[in-house]
Amino acid sequence: MIVIGRSGQLARALAGQESADLTVVRLGRPHLDFRTVCDTTALLSDLRPDIIVNAAGFTDVDGSERTPDAAFRVNCDGARRIAGSAAALGVPLIHVSTEYVFDGFSNRPYREVDSAAPLNAYGRSKLRGEAAVAATTPDHAILRTSWLYSPYGRNFFTKVLEKSGASAEIPVVADRHGSPTSAFELARGIERVARNLLAWRDSRRGRGIFHMTCAGETRWAGFASEILRNTGCTVRPVTSDSFVELARRPMNSRLCNDRLSDVHGVVLARWQDALSEVRTRYGEVGR
Ligand SMILES: NC(=O)c1ccc[n+]([C@@H]2O[C@H](COP(=O)([O-])OP(=O)(O)OC[C@H]3O[C@@H](n4cnc5c(N)ncnc54)[C@H](OP(=O)(O)O)[C@@H]3O)[C@@H](O)[C@H]2O)c1
Repeated sequence: MIVIGRSGQLARALAGQESADLTVVRLGRPHLDFRTVCDTTALLSDLRPDIIVNAAGFTDVDGSERTPDAAFRVNCDGARRIAGSAAALGVPLIHVSTEYVFDGFSNRPYREVDSAAPLNAYGRSKLRGEAAVAATTPDHAILRTSWLYSPYGRNFFTKVLEKSGASAEIPVVADRHGSPTSAFELARGIERVARNLLAWRDSRRGRGIFHMTCAGETRWAGFASEILRNTGCTVRPVTSDSFVELARRPMNSRLCNDRLSDVHGVVLARWQDALSEVRTRYGEVGR
């Protein structure tokens, strides 16, 4: 399995899935940089992949608002390039996308068939990336996830723990809801889908768009409270308008995972159980 993205949190979690019958090779900058011209197919061909997972993304949501061209270059043009290479090499592509393709005005979890209507440049670039993948190779699974976190790098989980070291109470948004998804759980789910796509190579089974998040739902404030359990630091629930953010964000980030379980037989762990694992592994990784 070739994973596009080297140092990203999902790319690192996918590397941890390596086992006796699964080799994971990560390919990222500087060898593969979507900002520069390079022969992606030649690069990938040398590695002889049986499947490609695109875990790369321009994930800075406010940064995408400031520099939409940069976001589109990675999230749309980059996705198209990888899809073109997957098609040329005759291998399936798993492409990771986001719930930010939806506007969040629905009062129920979003299904794959619901209309996309992104509120910000990041969401628009990811939606265009999905369309580019679908138009370039039929042999794809697009997996939309949400609220991704891990012990690696800067994400909601690591930022909350960082702040807890400096204050006894942290203000956190309590009016947006979704499903926190551990990069480890997502990586396990992706491996299961990858094995299915390879097993169903001669049919179109398992292809298309799927939602893949941890089970259950909460608000950002609920997620933060669980992260801070037993730390002595508490959460002060606030509304979204307490924070100045450049990009608008969906109030409802919940995704319905039924299609994933029906077609692929994959159900990720409850978000609280997944968080316990991340907390333990954070202790091992260090700060
Ligand atoms: N973070 C979230 O909350 C969230 C939520 C829903 C969906 N997603 C999606 O999940 C996927 C993984 O996200 P993540 O949180 O793991 O991302 P991340 O930690 O921000 O890492 C981004 C990855 O993209 C690669 N990348 C960025 N710019 C690149 C460029 N110009 N050329 C080549 N590679 C480039 C980075 O490569 P290097 O290793 O070379 O730095 C890195 O591996 C993305 O598709 C993202 O849109 C994320």
